[in-house]
Amino acid sequence: MPQRAKISVIGAGNVGATCAHWAAAKELGDIVVLDIPDKEGVAKGKMLDLACCGPIERFDSAIVGTSDYKDIAGSDVVIITAGIPRKPGMSRDDLIETNVKIVRSVSQKVAEFAPDSKVIVVSNPLDAMVYTAWKATGFPTNRIMGQAGALDVARFRTFIAWEIGCSVEDVSALLLGGHGDDMVPLPRCTSVHGIPVTDLLPQATIDACVERAKKGGGEVVQLMGTSAWYAPASGTIQMAEAIIKDKKRIIPSAAYCDGQFGAKGLFVGVPALLGADGVEKVVEFKLDAEEQKLFDESASHVQDLVGTVVKMFPDLA
Ligand code: NAI
Ligand code: 2OP
Repeated sequence: MPQRAKISVIGAGNVGATCAHWAAAKELGDIVVLDIPDKEGVAKGKMLDLACCGPIERFDSAIVGTSDYKDIAGSDVVIITAGIPRKPGMSRDDLIETNVKIVRSVSQKVAEFAPDSKVIVVSNPLDAMVYTAWKATGFPTNRIMGQAGALDVARFRTFIAWEIGCSVEDVSALLLGGHGDDMVPLPRCTSVHGIPVTDLLPQATIDACVERAKKGGGEVVQLMGTSAWYAPASGTIQMAEAIIKDKKRIIPSAAYCDGQFGAKGLFVGVPALLGADGVEKVVEFKLDAEEQKLFDESASHVQDLVGTVVKMFPDLA
């Protein structure tokens, strides 16, 4: 009998619970959502509520809320969303001190209780948290990655489709770099059913979509006072699905670069081929001079954040 896949989500807050929602809707496998003991009731309550959608949405996944790490044993994919989100006026980087401590302790537990899992980090500041999870789990680099690009590119595709008045499905795009306002969308790699976007929209409109995608997270924070969850969770489950179904999808993800795009020893947003082994390959291609400059700046910002992590927590060096 083939076994169902198992997905565990750490953090039963907005992003974590919504990851469980999308995973259940796609019937990707059995789901465990874990939070701290004080929030065990929240985790259990949300998952009971979600489980009762099964008869309507037609999924048979086992769905469990817990605060006990024993329940994540045997996970194929673990998603880390534990940590505080930003409030208006804060940057993602302002979260670093609090979230490194949380992500470090959670990652140590993941290594202990789900040692064979592939880990997708979502907590912010994303690229530095991926580094933290890597150090704290001791997992090989192919089994540690971060979700940011899947979300950022979905935002960019949405804004382009709105401008053209076409289906969002027909817009294909790519972006690189860290999950910050200096992320690097690549209009050159954006097409509408194969037609270069530059042939369909004026440069000023494309530039406006680029800017809106870069600041998309902040726009949501300004509107509702905390950060987004539907699209971040959707992007995360897109990655989990690629791994669980061994789809070999190319999804922009924070993945370990060993020289690709000029980044050495750094987790940063790049096109990553995701399959059963996690990040199976970083798909490298030649950037033009301007793109390389923007990528280098973004990677250098990520490197600075990692430097801050190591300065605050020398055990993570
Ligand atoms: P939230 O506050 O709704 O949920 C966070 C949950 O983590 C809470 O339930 C909290 O109890 C839990 N938690 C805290 N410490 C924990 C620990 N040691 N073990 C287990 N659970 C713990 O926050 P939200 O909106 O879900 O955001 C979570 C994180 O994801 C934030 O850092 C946010 O900035 C980040 N984020 C990242 C995105 C991305 O694209 N990478 C997009 C959206 C949010
Ligand atoms: C976002 O981009 C806050 O990282 C989060 O929505």
